[in-house]
Amino acid sequence: MKTLVLGASGATGKLLVQQLLEGGQQVVAIVRNISSFPKTLSQHSNLELIQGSILQLSDIELSGYVESCSAVVSCLGHNMNFKGIYGQPRNLVTEATRRVCAAIEQNSAEYPVKFILMSSSGVGNRDLKETVSLAQMAVIGLLRLLLPPHLDNERAADFLRAEVGQINAQIEWLVLRPDTLIDSPAVSQYQLHPSPIRSAIFNPGQTSRQNVANAILHLLKDETKWQQWRGQFPVIYNSEIKK
Ligand SMILES: NC(=O)c1ccc[n+]([C@@H]2O[C@H](COP(=O)([O-])OP(=O)(O)OC[C@H]3O[C@@H](n4cnc5c(N)ncnc54)[C@H](OP(=O)(O)O)[C@@H]3O)[C@@H](O)[C@H]2O)c1
Repeated sequence: MKTLVLGASGATGKLLVQQLLEGGQQVVAIVRNISSFPKTLSQHSNLELIQGSILQLSDIELSGYVESCSAVVSCLGHNMNFKGIYGQPRNLVTEATRRVCAAIEQNSAEYPVKFILMSSSGVGNRDLKETVSLAQMAVIGLLRLLLPPHLDNERAADFLRAEVGQINAQIEWLVLRPDTLIDSPAVSQYQLHPSPIRSAIFNPGQTSRQNVANAILHLLKDETKWQQWRGQFPVIYNSEIKK
């Protein structure tokens, strides 16, 4: 299996590339700056490393990269500095998702391509009645106004839910929603839930980036798991250690 990873130079993207390669998968990774990508990974024989910026690739280039892959994962996110949050492109995640989906549809592969979008527990799944307090609704409303990356994450997830939809011969998708991301040295126990089990704003849990990468690897490798979660927005939390 070959997977195209977007945002492969990011904190989660790098871990995903590493876990996919260690799991024996082939990986195509698009990064803006090859020199900032770990050398230990960049020389792996199962990795094709492409220098480029996802929104600046031509349609032909993108469709060529997508063509050889049976899965695409987006770990894209706005850089957490003033330029990344308030500068252009404000629609990075949505536009990359749209472009990749258009490239997949144009290629008309024999089998549907799996697309995983890394999102956030603060993004709701409007297909489900997810209970959110009035206070949380107010804060999320403010985030939409004040934090463009939040709106971008919502729009990207909504594009998959509403425009790609559940019945699509070319694309099967899943929106993975981590809670507060943390770094940890190794994969630990974690759980997936169809909807948040705690408030993303007032009582957030933790999700390690290692566990996000591991969940993605297993969702792509295990067809039963994929069928269980595809078309949904699973929320991923680290399991709490009982004292
Ligand atoms: N922080 C949290 O607690 C939290 C919780 C839940 C979900 N999330 C979401 O999780 C996702 C990934 O998180 P992370 O911490 O792994 O992200 P990260 O380390 O910031 O990585 C972001 C990736 O996106 C790329 N990128 C940024 N701007 C770009 C642009 N204009 N064009 C092309 N590529 C661009 C970066 O490339 P460069 O290396 O070239 O900059 C990098 O590869 C984000 O969508 C975030 O919203 C975060």
